Amino acid sequence: MEYCIAPLYVRPWTLNGISARLIESHYEHNYGSALTRLNAVTDELERIDVKRTPAPVISRLKQEQTRLLNSTLLHELYFASLGGDGRAPTEVISMVIARDFGWVDQWRAEVIALAEALGGDAGWILLTYVPRDGRLLNVNTTDHTQSIVGGIPILALDMYEHAYHIEFGANPIAYVAAFMRNIDWPAVEARYRDAIITAPPPALKQPEFGDLPAIAPEDVQAMIASGQPLQLIDTRPRHYTTRGEDIAEGAVWRDPERIEEWIGTLSKEAPVVTFCVYGFHIGCQSAAMLRKAGFDARYMTGGHYAWKALKGPMKLIESQPVTSR
Ligand SMILES: [Fe+2]
Repeated sequence: MEYCIAPLYVRPWTLNGISARLIESHYEHNYGSALTRLNAVTDELERIDVKRTPAPVISRLKQEQTRLLNSTLLHELYFASLGGDGRAPTEVISMVIARDFGWVDQWRAEVIALAEALGGDAGWILLTYVPRDGRLLNVNTTDHTQSIVGGIPILALDMYEHAYHIEFGANPIAYVAAFMRNIDWPAVEARYRDAIITAPPPALKQPEFGDLPAIAPEDVQAMIASGQPLQLIDTRPRHYTTRGEDIAEGAVWRDPERIEEWIGTLSKEAPVVTFCVYGFHIGCQSAAMLRKAGFDARYMTGGHYAWKALKGPMKLIESQPVTSR
């Protein structure tokens, strides 16, 4: 496969405080070099006999290919980020930045802080849309290979010295200010609109439980912290709850196989949350049975291990709860 060169997106003569000479040099020498080396490495990878080539050689070439492809893509985004009147984002982008950063000035201040923190070192600052959370965040990288998995950068600031040194010398912050003056916000908005079409990773589905209400462990912990009444029932199978095992603080263990024996101890005046080991069947079944009996019951997603993964408070089970059979 051959990667084709992208024409320079920005019209260099329209820029305010960034010269055509700087853009031409950047495009020709740095973008061009990344692209031509990317093609050379890709060609080499396509030619090698994988079965006869030492694994470390293949690994090195793949890492180089990743680095060069990212450099190519980021430079194309960088040139496409410039060429507008950077003073004010579009209405849509202003609203989204305000939602995710507090206000546009706070976003700008964060970008400047990230640029200052580089202290002259190379890196990228990327305004990135993360489909998992449906939000924007600034990502700062110190090479071409760090990025957010699944994230879609919609604005790129190149903080490599080659991006500013011939014009701004050792003053990267003046360069950042010039970059800000030239952001093409309508183009950023167009990329944002494309990015938000990307679906988040599919959530765990348990169609067998229909529309059984669920609650996230973070929300359960918040309910407990705020003192809201809650009956938290650990319904892991009995063999998970032997002496010395741990249990979520605030929860009581009840045998899911003997629900009819303990259902009478619950109150219908306060919500009930059940959970099992991972949040699959048993917690759901218990919640479904309790709902059928008229309780305001939900199951906790992710179960015992999600609670632990969140570093929720735990206690040891001192003895097996007694139930009569
Ligand atoms: Fe660059």
